[in-house]
Formats: sequence, C-alpha cells, structure tokens
Amino acid sequence: MSQTSSSTDGREQAGSGRGPATAPAGSGGSAAPAPEQALRPHAEDTFAGELAALAAADDRARPARWKLSPWAVATYLLGGTLPDGTVITPKYVGPRRVVEVAVTTLATDRALLLLGVPGTAKTWVSEHLAAAISGDSTLLVQGTAGTPEEAIRYGWNYAQLLTHGPTPAALVHSPVMRAMAEGRIARIEELTRIPADVQDTLITILSEKTLPIPELGTETQAVRGFNMIATANDRDRGVNELSSALRRRFNTVVLPLPATAEEEVDIVSRRVDQLGRGLDLPAVPRGADEIRRVVTVFRELRGGVTEDGRTKVKSPSGTLSTAEAISVVTGGLALAAHFGDGVLRAGDVAAGILGAVVRDPAADRLVWQEYLETVVRGRDGWKDFYRACREVSA
Ligand SMILES: Nc1ncnc2c1ncn2[C@@H]1O[C@H](COP(=O)(O)OP(=O)(O)OP(=O)(O)O)[C@@H](O)[C@H]1O
Ligand SMILES: [Mg+2]
Repeated sequence: MSQTSSSTDGREQAGSGRGPATAPAGSGGSAAPAPEQALRPHAEDTFAGELAALAAADDRARPARWKLSPWAVATYLLGGTLPDGTVITPKYVGPRRVVEVAVTTLATDRALLLLGVPGTAKTWVSEHLAAAISGDSTLLVQGTAGTPEEAIRYGWNYAQLLTHGPTPAALVHSPVMRAMAEGRIARIEELTRIPADVQDTLITILSEKTLPIPELGTETQAVRGFNMIATANDRDRGVNELSSALRRRFNTVVLPLPATAEEEVDIVSRRVDQLGRGLDLPAVPRGADEIRRVVTVFRELRGGVTEDGRTKVKSPSGTLSTAEAISVVTGGLALAAHFGDGVLRAGDVAAGILGAVVRDPAADRLVWQEYLETVVRGRDGWKDFYRACREVSA
C-alpha cells in the first residue's frame, strides 16, 4: 500500500518531498481511517496496548531508535506475562530461538531474510517485528515481477519535475529511503519475485548504508536504527534466485511448518479467534473438533501419511498451509453464522477443505476421493465429517 502511494502517486508527496506517513500533503491526501475502523489495522495499532505495556516494563538496553529492547521485542512476538500482570499474547507460535535470532540480526548491521514455504507466517512475523522495533510496520515494498527500481530507491513527481527540474521537492521517497532517513525497519515482501537487476539495487543500500541521488548530487545516508526485513518463499514458481552478493548481506532465518498438530491447532484457533472478532463472527471454543479435523486433514495430505503413521496418502498439488487452514475455518465460521445456527459444524468446513485441496480439478480430485474413502470413512467419530465431505465432493 505505502509502496503504491510513494512510488506512483506523486500527489501524496507534492511539495513536501516526504512520504505520506510523515507528511500527509496538505489538503489533497485522503485521510487514513481511525485504526478501529480499518478493515485490517496495522499491528502497531491492533496491539498498541501491549506495546505500551512492554515499553513501560522494559528496562533493558535498547539499540538506537528501537522502541523496545531485543528481549521485549521477542516477548511481544512469543507472548508472556509482565511483572505488573499484563498478558502479552503470542503472535508467533514456533521455536523461541527462531525469533531470538531474527531479532538479534536486526540489531546488527546485517539484514534479515525470512524464508519458508507458503503460509509459515513470514509476512506476519515481518510486520510484527517492524511494529515492535520501529512502531511502524508500513514502510513496505511489495515485490513482484514488475517492481521497478524506483519502488526501492526513489521516483519523481513528474509535474514537479517538468516545471522545476530535479529538485528535492520533486523527489518521491520510497519506503526504503524513508526508513533509512528515519532509522526504522523497511520491509520487502517476496524479495525473490523482484527481477535480479532490481534486487541488486539493495546491495549499496545494505552494504554502504547509503542511497546516492545523482540527479541532485546528494545522498540519503541511513541513520542508526535502519535495517531491513525481506521475505521470500522457496516454493512458488516464477521465482528469481537471490544473487550471492545480496544473499551475503542477509542473515537467513527459516520459518518452519508447525512441528505438531497441537501447535498447529493452537495457531489456527488463535488466528480464527482474532479474525472472527474483527468480522463479528461467533466465537469457537479453542481447539474445537472442526479445527482439529481441518488441521489433521491438512497435515496428513501435506505429509503424505496419516497421523498414526500407518497409511500412506497421496499429496495434492496445493500447499495446504496453516494460512489456508485458517481461512477454511474462518470461512466455515461465516457459513455457520449466516446460514447455520452459529455453531461450527462439519458441513461448514467441508466445502472450504475441498476448495483448498482440489486445485487441479482432475488430479487433486482423485487424491481427495482416495483420502476420503481410505482414511476419513473408517475413522472413529468422523462420520458426520465424512458425510459432509461426500456431499460437497459429489
Ligand atoms: N507459526 C505461526 N504462528 C502464528 N501464526 C501463524 C503461524 N503460521 C502461520 N500463521 C498464520 O498464518 C497466516 C498467514 O501467514 P503469512 O501470510 O505471514 O504467511 P507467509 O509465510 O508470508 O506466506 P506466503 O509465502 O504465502 O506469503 C497469518 O495469519 C499467521 O498468523
Ligand atoms: Mg507472505
């Protein structure tokens, strides 16, 4: 979002030469909604209370311009209870060490690359790290095959450029440039989707910590506190390699898939609860049967074997990530709320599961039918689920 407005919408910056977050450009800019009105508030707004409580309780050393100490940032991500009794909810459920390494990397001069298969919370962790460290998760560049260099460096407001020539006022700062100037965390999403030559723009920024602006004969030097979090997933097609020159500038942290079904049920329950509240959906008891079943089906199909290790199953072409399990359950909850009695049942999640599993209509349908008949059919207590799945699969 910020990438679009700072790279292509010159009006936002007209006359100020600064980004929309710092200078809402006089009268023309559209005002952001109040955080509680936004469909998806930023992490720093959603968890403003927790961040403030952590800052108040945090007496450890903070790196320059960090809002919290590394310990408090890790606590924000992993959850905990503060001495005054404030409960910090876990944002990331997974190995503590992964978070500790990620946080400490950001306190050094190396940038952080979060790598992993789809749906392992790379974007989510990146947003929360930026929110906790800089109090701002919005300095974001979304990487695509069409991301131009200007989105990473700077662009020009063409009206200004044509009238006055290259002046500081005509410069449109990228989110990365603003992060450098303000000593904050910049985020690059899907780094490996960006064409290799554009990726290389980052080399000078990360090694020299400066961004030259030859048109003005100046540069933007990064101030202390600046660093970068990039995410990349190692599955998708159409992915460009990360050049070795760039790879050397990043510490890579791999986010694993949830280790156990319990952990995954916990993640799905928490996120469904949060999302459901935002959408005014009924609450589901933590670890409800349907959540457990969705997670079990996803894990078994993903892993190619049943949980008891006895039966081999074929894996479908889709990724069946935790993120998809979360949307299947949230979708089911909406069905239950609007067309059912508000209680999540097998029939509410069956269609969602089918949609997630059958991506390739021919091959995946066979995989699904076989799984239904050989595994689901005979499983104790799964009769309603089997019936519901049969109904939608017919
Ligand atoms: N270990 C986890 N802890 C907490 N939440 C998780 C975890 N794994 C997945 N999620 C949830 O899954 C959802 C999707 O995560 P996210 O979009 O960050 O995945 P991603 O790794 O960026 O995927 P992609 O490669 O598709 O971009 C988020 O809502 C996140 O809360
Ligand atoms: Mg992502």
